[in-house]
Amino acid sequence: MTMTNRWNQFIYRLWSPVYDAALGRFFLPGRKLALKMLVLQPGEKVLLVGVGTGADLPLLPDGVEATGIDLSPEMLAKARNKLPACRAAVELIQGDAQALLVAENSFDAAILNLILSVVPDGHACLQSTLQALKPGGRIVIFDKFQPDNSKPSILRKTMNFFSSLFGTDITRSYGQLSQGCACVVDQDVPSLLNGMYRVMIVRKG
Ligand SMILES: C[S@@+](CC[C@H](N)C(=O)[O-])C[C@H]1O[C@@H](n2cnc3c(N)ncnc32)[C@H](O)[C@@H]1O
Repeated sequence: MTMTNRWNQFIYRLWSPVYDAALGRFFLPGRKLALKMLVLQPGEKVLLVGVGTGADLPLLPDGVEATGIDLSPEMLAKARNKLPACRAAVELIQGDAQALLVAENSFDAAILNLILSVVPDGHACLQSTLQALKPGGRIVIFDKFQPDNSKPSILRKTMNFFSSLFGTDITRSYGQLSQGCACVVDQDVPSLLNGMYRVMIVRKG
């Protein structure tokens, strides 16, 4: 199954009413670690790419200026409901994570939680995010990846057929999707499911 924006819009419309109840608790430790590693400072501008239902928004510290972008109006509507619980100033915009319509070199940091494995083209998403960052800007990535030094097994490819139907690809490797991107990995730590999920800090080169 090839993932497309059209399919993602359809499947995340279906996910939107149940996403937080079904997955909120499971992902929370990974989110908390990601935010801790990003070390956001008051006055910084942070871009949340594929912000979804806004599960990261209440974890943002006071004094931060946040912009959340997502393709799905239904997921964004859920994010909007969380704004009263947020300490950060938040703006939400509908848009495509593979071609972000934001000013270049304008953000101090970005959050790519559970999005590089979802967008049709993870490489384009990372490139577009890097373009939006100031030189030296940092990205936190919390996601599941195929290890860089191995190919997906037949079982994983079979399971991927079904996971893609539900809106996520389990066969992508960070090494492959970041090829040719001007960035370096500063930190890479294992997270949920015995390290299948990872939290990484990537810096714009
Ligand atoms: C698995 S959810 C993750 C949401 C959020 N980042 C989180 O951590 O809970 C993936 C999100 O990506 C969004 N999405 C899918 N394709 C997209 C695209 N091309 N551009 C922007 N958002 C997209 C979906 O609408 C959905 O909200």
